[in-house]
Amino acid sequence: MNAIPAPLLMLENVTVDFDGFKALSDVSMMLTPGTLRILIGPNGAGKSTLCDTIIGRVRPTAGRITFKDENITQLAEQEIVRRGICRKFQTPGVLPTLTVMQNLLVAARKNRAWWRTLTTVTPADELVRAEEILEKIGLADRRGIMAADLAHGEKQWLEIGMVVATDADLLLLDEPTAGMGPQDTQRTADLILSLLGRHAVLVIDHDMSFVEALNGYTTVLHQGQILKEGSVAQVRADEQVAAVYLGRGKE
Ligand SMILES: Nc1ncnc2c1ncn2[C@@H]1O[C@H](COP(=O)(O)OP(=O)(O)O)[C@@H](O)[C@H]1O
Ligand SMILES: [Mg+2]
Repeated sequence: MNAIPAPLLMLENVTVDFDGFKALSDVSMMLTPGTLRILIGPNGAGKSTLCDTIIGRVRPTAGRITFKDENITQLAEQEIVRRGICRKFQTPGVLPTLTVMQNLLVAARKNRAWWRTLTTVTPADELVRAEEILEKIGLADRRGIMAADLAHGEKQWLEIGMVVATDADLLLLDEPTAGMGPQDTQRTADLILSLLGRHAVLVIDHDMSFVEALNGYTTVLHQGQILKEGSVAQVRADEQVAAVYLGRGKE
């Protein structure tokens, strides 16, 4: 009958060494297509480094990364992006002098020169998709606003929308709720959950209310190593995790 789904992304014994400092040690994990993975851990645990390594910005000193059955360990970032991984950074990366809609259209046409997006007619299918994404991120009524004039939370959602617009199979979201209040955080969780199926999402955060709202399979990173994996409830109940992380979280 149905076999276990083929992995989308596989990390095998990945180690990253910054001049003798091991930011990641022997990290192995697997993501299946269309699913959510939450990555938590205290500051300096290696979470952003893990994203950097997946996308080819940082080279592992040992180990192997496989994406859609291809060894991508030594590929350039651009090549990895082309194969269907897209990353949202901790800081908003919207283009401030373009409108919300223009930002989405630019992101959707990643393989074309961005200035042509603004000077040529946009194909109908790209417009339809951009409309869909506008609805999804809740900014349909803000489409004509300059990105610079959006509220903080709205900028973050636009940036998630831009990542979605690339139609990558794997989205890496590094602290998408940074600086958000509880209401915006909940909305961000709902948005991310609505992306699953079409996209696999690896989301980094250390806001436990957000992690609980997402309620997905969670990996806890500590000093560059995987400390624990499981449901949010399992991770929460773990004494070691509580000791290194939850105990001195922002609660
Ligand atoms: N380019 C780099 N060179 C040297 N050390 C780095 C570099 N990038 C990150 N680090 C170190 O690696 C550790 C993990 O950092 P990071 O991945 O940013 O942690 P997190 O995102 O979990 O807070 C930290 O101690 C950080 O100082
Ligand atoms: Mg980080």
